Amino acid sequence: LGVLRPTRAGWPAGPPQNRCYGAAVRQLLPSCLPEVNAADTYLDGTRGPIGPRPWVLANMIASVDGATAVEGVSGGLGGAADKVVFRAIRAVADLVLVAAGTARAEGYHAPRLPPELVQARRDRGRTEAPRLAIVSRRLELDRSLPLFESGRPRPIIVTTTDAPADRREDLARHAEIVACGEIDVDLVEALTVLRARYSSDVVLTEGGPSLLGALTTAGALDEICLTMAPCLIGGDSRRIVHGAHPVPRTLALTHLLEEDGFLFLRYTRNSRR
Ligand SMILES: NC(=O)c1ccc[n+]([C@@H]2O[C@H](COP(=O)([O-])OP(=O)(O)OC[C@H]3O[C@@H](n4cnc5c(N)ncnc54)[C@H](OP(=O)(O)O)[C@@H]3O)[C@@H](O)[C@H]2O)c1
Repeated sequence: LGVLRPTRAGWPAGPPQNRCYGAAVRQLLPSCLPEVNAADTYLDGTRGPIGPRPWVLANMIASVDGATAVEGVSGGLGGAADKVVFRAIRAVADLVLVAAGTARAEGYHAPRLPPELVQARRDRGRTEAPRLAIVSRRLELDRSLPLFESGRPRPIIVTTTDAPADRREDLARHAEIVACGEIDVDLVEALTVLRARYSSDVVLTEGGPSLLGALTTAGALDEICLTMAPCLIGGDSRRIVHGAHPVPRTLALTHLLEEDGFLFLRYTRNSRR
């Protein structure tokens, strides 16, 4: 589902797929519980707009030594347990925001969710799945990319007013275009537009590291869901946040889950420090 190559969004082959529906993981914090429903642990009524912009959460996976990709994609880091959590987090979002580098590398599709998460969203009066938005300056987004496949709802392309006009005109036939900022996308403005235009109170970003860097610099990350994969990778892939000005920001640990050696950490912006 959802990918051409083995990425975190892909269905695992064989029997472990069933565990995507079982969705049971161990909770270590805030209290120790031998079995919790992963989807329930990510439901949180406290997420809400920050002024005019939506709440922004990020979901990333890294190895114990901080690698975010193996041979250019994140799929080599994930496993069945990670896929359970990946979908649980998508289920809380109105919109999934991904940078063009990641959309191209990982063959992004429009997000889809398993039936029980679709039903849970319907019960809460939401759409079946979050909508996909891609951030790009250059607009080198080939029409053969999987993100254009499903057609409805059309993907949203978030770009700059200086983006190449011919590419913008071409993409506008297949996607909604939001243009904010001249050289770089003004992410706070873009998020504000996405909330107003597409009723997106909760935006999930799935990276990549450059986009998380820009969001960190803009002070627009409110929650970070980090999967620590039980492996060492080495190499020189980026950390989960790349290129941001080094301004330390403290975070508060909201929960810690464990399954099959994977740790699922959820942090929120620490408003007290
Ligand atoms: N471990 C994980 O959880 C995880 C998650 C996601 C990705 N990844 C990995 O990370 C790698 C890609 O990350 P990356 O850091 O190289 O690239 P990236 O952040 O995915 O994409 C960078 C591109 O996004 C666009 N972009 C980003 N910020 C922008 C801004 N403020 N304004 C305008 N455009 C902006 C530009 O697109 P244009 O070039 O189109 O102008 C830029 O070249 C891949 O290997 C992927 O597999 C890992």
